[in-house]
Amino acid sequence: MIDLNATGAGLEGYGLLAAQLEALLADERDFIANAAQFSAFLYSQVEDLNWAGFYLNRNEQLVLGPFQGQVACVRIPFGRGVCGAAAASQETQRVEDVHAFPGHIACDSASNSELVIPLVKDGRLLGVLDLDSPKLARFSEADQVGLERLAGIFLRLTDC
Ligand code: SME
Repeated sequence: MIDLNATGAGLEGYGLLAAQLEALLADERDFIANAAQFSAFLYSQVEDLNWAGFYLNRNEQLVLGPFQGQVACVRIPFGRGVCGAAAASQETQRVEDVHAFPGHIACDSASNSELVIPLVKDGRLLGVLDLDSPKLARFSEADQVGLERLAGIFLRLTDC
């Protein structure tokens, strides 16, 4: 596991992860295969996560996709909870304390902070990438930038 905090802002750590992800996804473009790999990659390489994975846009509802972690809620309406807010606004949601977030959906009571990145390709919302942590305020601005960069690599190297 790379120490993402060892380099101050953590961007060098994410640079290394970006290179590793490029190599991991280089030979395959299938959506399910790459989404499953990306979830496992994040879960094993990013510290202090208890969930990492996808919710996919199915007719204005988010439906559970490939993930790592505990079993989770299957359907989330747009606008509900942190994932629903990311889908409705198409803006990344970085939440320091999920218990203070209106409508937060507690799939795993161990989760305390969350980062949800909307996945938009050619103007279409494909779904969201959801990362949960048992640590309060786990995700810094540098984490957000680094993880959005990784999500961009996934979208570029995957048919979706
Ligand atoms: N906590 C999320 C629901 C998804 S789980 O964390 C896997 C939310 O409020 O949208």
